[in-house]
Amino acid sequence: MSENSFAQDRIKCLRALAALPETEGSPLQTSVADIETKVATLLSEMDIGAKLGQIYQISASHQNEKVEEQVRQGRVGSILNQIDPNWIRELQRIAVEESPDRIPLIVGRDVIHGFRTIAPIPLALSATWNPELVKAVSAGAAAETRAVGVNWTFAPMIDVTRDPRWGRVAESPGEDPFLTAVMGQAMIQGFQGDDLAAPDRVAACAKHFAGYGASEGGRDYNTAWIPEQQLWETHLPSFQVAVEAGVATFMSGFNDLNGVPATGNAFLLDEVLRHRWGFNGFVVSDWKSVEEMIAHGIAADRAEAGLLAARAGVDMEMVSSCAPDHLERLIEEGEFPLERLDCMVANILRVKFALGLFEQPYPPEGAVYPPAMDERVSELARQAAAESFVLLKNEGSVLPLCAARPKIALIGPLADAPADQLGTWSLDGRPEDSVTPLAAFREREKKGAVELHYAPGLAYSRDTNEAGFAEALAAANEADVVVFVGGEEAFLSGEAHSRAYLNLPGAQEALIQKLKESGKPLVLVVMAGRPLVLEAVLPQVDALLYAWHPGTFAGPALADVLCGNVVPSGKLPITFPKAEGQIPIFHGRRNTGRPFNPQHWVPLDQVPPGSSQTSVGGSSYCLDVGDTPRFVFGEGLSYTRFEWSAPALSRSTLPLGESTEVSVVVKNIGQCTGSEVVQLYLRDIAASVTRPISELKGFEKISLAPGESCTMRFELSPEMLSFPDATGSARLEPGEFTVSVGSNSRDVQSVRLMLE
Ligand code: GLC
Repeated sequence: MSENSFAQDRIKCLRALAALPETEGSPLQTSVADIETKVATLLSEMDIGAKLGQIYQISASHQNEKVEEQVRQGRVGSILNQIDPNWIRELQRIAVEESPDRIPLIVGRDVIHGFRTIAPIPLALSATWNPELVKAVSAGAAAETRAVGVNWTFAPMIDVTRDPRWGRVAESPGEDPFLTAVMGQAMIQGFQGDDLAAPDRVAACAKHFAGYGASEGGRDYNTAWIPEQQLWETHLPSFQVAVEAGVATFMSGFNDLNGVPATGNAFLLDEVLRHRWGFNGFVVSDWKSVEEMIAHGIAADRAEAGLLAARAGVDMEMVSSCAPDHLERLIEEGEFPLERLDCMVANILRVKFALGLFEQPYPPEGAVYPPAMDERVSELARQAAAESFVLLKNEGSVLPLCAARPKIALIGPLADAPADQLGTWSLDGRPEDSVTPLAAFREREKKGAVELHYAPGLAYSRDTNEAGFAEALAAANEADVVVFVGGEEAFLSGEAHSRAYLNLPGAQEALIQKLKESGKPLVLVVMAGRPLVLEAVLPQVDALLYAWHPGTFAGPALADVLCGNVVPSGKLPITFPKAEGQIPIFHGRRNTGRPFNPQHWVPLDQVPPGSSQTSVGGSSYCLDVGDTPRFVFGEGLSYTRFEWSAPALSRSTLPLGESTEVSVVVKNIGQCTGSEVVQLYLRDIAASVTRPISELKGFEKISLAPGESCTMRFELSPEMLSFPDATGSARLEPGEFTVSVGSNSRDVQSVRLMLE
């Protein structure tokens, strides 16, 4: 019997969920004292031109003399989108040898899920429920990034979202505040390590602060209306944990929050971030989001936009130059205090000193782009891909493909799509590095492990040309099992790529229907950047493996899982709707005054014509699809099975402010070793405000051999039993709680806890 312990890091996440004040400053705050001295000394030597230069970031994607001259004059403090180590070296040389104050540049890039070696998209990384693995993947990405002289990544994206129409759900850790906080913390720890000056670490960036994931209608850049209660319990915790994890920078979002753009929002950037949480890194605006405050209708012109952003708490302006262009005059006119500009510059210099850029600003000698691929980084990307896959259906245990030499028909537009399998935000990923499912199975075919019949059937995910169907059906007829790899091209998710219809694009549904004519077992593998609506195909397939966009090593990872070398262990980080009309639908919803009553539910096609208005309904659900999603948060099958004891509390009646412990025994009753994610949920039955029917408060991923069992223990602390009120203050209230443990947010066993 092996025991588990509750990771100390997770407790920080729980504290954030209760909006409790942090106990210690972020590592940046504990930066060596001499950094503060150096910052103050350098600041005192800078003129206003130099200060305005530090708050300006330009996109320097192509080498040109204008950029070099701007750096030479000290008019630029940061560049983004430059990855050629030779030009980065030259720009740094100009900055530290020729600019007036010799200040090095901080060099940013979107390294969202890998640099050259592309790991699964962040939504998939979250599906591993393995923060230690995510941390290691992020560390690998940091090493590849710093190797070319880039020293800052615009990640992790830790916007909670419950809207799969939103293209950027692909970049997020999903719908849950706690899981998002844990994954964001892991990424920050991986990117930054314990020493930002190390040659294999980069500064991280918590983004997009805040509320971007609630963009109305799932349309990107749209308005977010979020009541304070929901802001504190859902959208802010992951960012508070990021501060406690020592994140060096924040990025303000494009969206307006409750009528005030995040980039000009003093409540977020000053009151919460600085005064409540004590953040002392720097805030960069998102791309031109300062200037976009004119379009938002909150600034009359560029001068006012720059003033609003600077006053609110933006330290560095990305690409637009409203503040750098106008703050000098605004200071002269007494509109903006010089001390505030000094503070902005100090925040930026603090991070540059912590990165060691004043001692070593240059890329390593001999640095080349792309950096060499590292075997360990590649292995981590492959492992993360395999662990991110979520098995959602497996009728008749058609998986794993156990035959000694299975005859496989490999079909579908994503079976050999080296660029699309990388997913969105894979800027420095190289399709030529990709190992596709076709390539991986060809390798197995060469070794005699499989007999392969390949036909794409469709050229790409949106293809509607059915000319390839006959060849695909012929391949299926030759095989014992059909593996269809479909889903979304990478282009269909990510920034500015929201979708209103979430079914399989193009003629994929028709092709799957055609393949059924073969009569062979059909395995559907979906590569996508979001949950899709699969109602049209789910009844047709025997197995469903959700693969997200798995990155460079999608092929080997998929072959490992389909052939049983790796047992699937992924769990959904986001709810899958039956229809777009159900959105938003998520596990942590409120109960309402009329929770769904199954007795009210009559399938719509069974409601007689002319039925009276009150003959059906009467509780909270949709007439046509009911009240449940297709797949729930935390769901995922294995090739083995687990048996759970009922949870037991060390004390079921608890004095306010004290802790108790919940334990549960999990046993592997199947035939193969497998991993299970033990999930702990709480429900506060009656409080001063309505509470979610399900709050994730802890989880542990465990591996058990056949017959092995494990006692899982979770502390139930006052933090876990608390919740933030609309002012962000923690509330711990007496009353009844339901403590639930299970393998997902629906299939749980519960026990009652009374807080007195
Ligand atoms: C983009 C994104 C942001 C990214 C930045 C730099 O528009 O919103 O996430 O980091 O610009 O590329």
